[in-house]
Amino acid sequence: MNKTIINNLPSFTKARKRYPSKIVNFKVEVPESVTAKLSGKSFLIRTFGCQANIRDEESMAGLLKAANMQRTENEKAASVIIINTCAVREGAEQRIFGQIGNLKQLKLINRDLIIIVAGCVVQQEESLVKLRKTFPFIDIFMGTNAIHKLLNLIDTKITQNKKVVDVPSDDVTVYENVPVERIAPHKAFVNITYGCDKFCTYCIVPYTRGKERSRLPEDILRECKILVDSGYQEITLVGQNVNAYGLDLKNGTTFSYILEEVAKLGIARLRFITSHPWNFNDEMINVMAKYPNIMRKIHLPLQSGSDEILKLMGRRYTVKDYLELVSKLRAKMPDIVLTTDIIVGFPNETEAQFLETLKVVDKVNYEGAFTFIYSPRSGTPAARMVDNVSREEKGKRFDCLKELVDAQTETNAAKYVGKKCRVLVDGVSKKDINFLSGYTESDRVVHFEGPLALIGKIVEVKIIESRVYSFLGELVNE
Ligand code: SAH
Ligand code: SF4
Ligand code: F3S
Repeated sequence: MNKTIINNLPSFTKARKRYPSKIVNFKVEVPESVTAKLSGKSFLIRTFGCQANIRDEESMAGLLKAANMQRTENEKAASVIIINTCAVREGAEQRIFGQIGNLKQLKLINRDLIIIVAGCVVQQEESLVKLRKTFPFIDIFMGTNAIHKLLNLIDTKITQNKKVVDVPSDDVTVYENVPVERIAPHKAFVNITYGCDKFCTYCIVPYTRGKERSRLPEDILRECKILVDSGYQEITLVGQNVNAYGLDLKNGTTFSYILEEVAKLGIARLRFITSHPWNFNDEMINVMAKYPNIMRKIHLPLQSGSDEILKLMGRRYTVKDYLELVSKLRAKMPDIVLTTDIIVGFPNETEAQFLETLKVVDKVNYEGAFTFIYSPRSGTPAARMVDNVSREEKGKRFDCLKELVDAQTETNAAKYVGKKCRVLVDGVSKKDINFLSGYTESDRVVHFEGPLALIGKIVEVKIIESRVYSFLGELVNE
């Protein structure tokens, strides 16, 4: 007897193809078996990876809450455990394999425990095979575009007592109105696009998240309006490449339009992530400059400072284009803060090409940068390139870049000392319960003493010490 029900298996060939996307209004129905078995019980979700995964966790939590379950952080108390995975680099994937391995013990104690693996790792053909083989105790594999089916997949598991695999690569439907249980009470992520069409040659995301599809402006605005009305202070518009928002709708809707419309709703702070330099146009810069509630901070991945490498990466901009964009942004908004992502050791990157990256980093002067050693992802074009650069050499380049980036980060952080910043108070500091912590407009963490009543408010804080990745501040009495 086959013990697994396979609804859909992932396929990179299918993920590469283009499908017309459609929008479906989702209506939650809790299957009887789920109510009977899980109502009043607890769930635990561990999320790795980017904002897309975090926002997916909120939908999974929303669905489980609709089934009258509650969140727990205690593995032993959970009846459902979901591991929401990231596949962007090999290291990320390996960490997840470790985490899943640890769950076997729990299954031995609690035979009814339902273990689900979701997210980007299961969307990879080879990884799914490996996961199924290595961890036979996993009950459900759920793809990134099957989240709305969560309760039905659990129903199948319970009623048929079989494992379930539902990982489609060709379903590009946008599901609206999936219940949501937000993680933070004052700050929210709002998806504007799903997937990615850029197919940068090193990147697995277009395969794991599918084709780029935009939500309709009215759906985005409705979600944002609810957030504003319920007292949220900050919205971050989320997409792998927010600047491409609307292009697939083919009706003239653009990112600058949705950015402006959300800004007009009157949210105190509006952010967006991530920006692809290629699609960042003047109109977007103008909207940013016009609305003070759009935060002057952009994460603008550079990836490499060499035109040849950028071309091999399929990034579709040159160093000149990138630097011109930076100049334009700074001309319109002199106080703009820039952060970036950089990959070192792309296949066959020469020493000279690496030095060009250092030059650009030096020129732009970032407030922070995430630096990565190139990690081949099976199925991507770059993974098929023969690479003549040793691991050791890549490691050396990485350390060299890190030194420059750290020095920049430190110098730029030191500039805050003595300044007053507007801080959105997140809650009690995780490191010291006598302190509150919050974020500046440029998205830097500040710890300071103050009453609990300030949580969720925006207050003025004077920075008195820089600890590079966080600040110590003093509340300014207004
Ligand atoms: N959509 C976003 C984020 C993509 S993933 C963007 O385009 O910026 C976040 C970062 O991970 C990327 O910016 C890139 O710097 C890094 N990254 C992606 N694939 C990688 C790989 N195969 N090896 C090393 N770093 C990678
Ligand atoms: Fe990956 Fe490029 Fe898409 Fe970013 S824009 S998610 S790096 S393919
Ligand atoms: Fe990771 Fe998937 Fe995001 S691979 S970075 S969780 S889109």
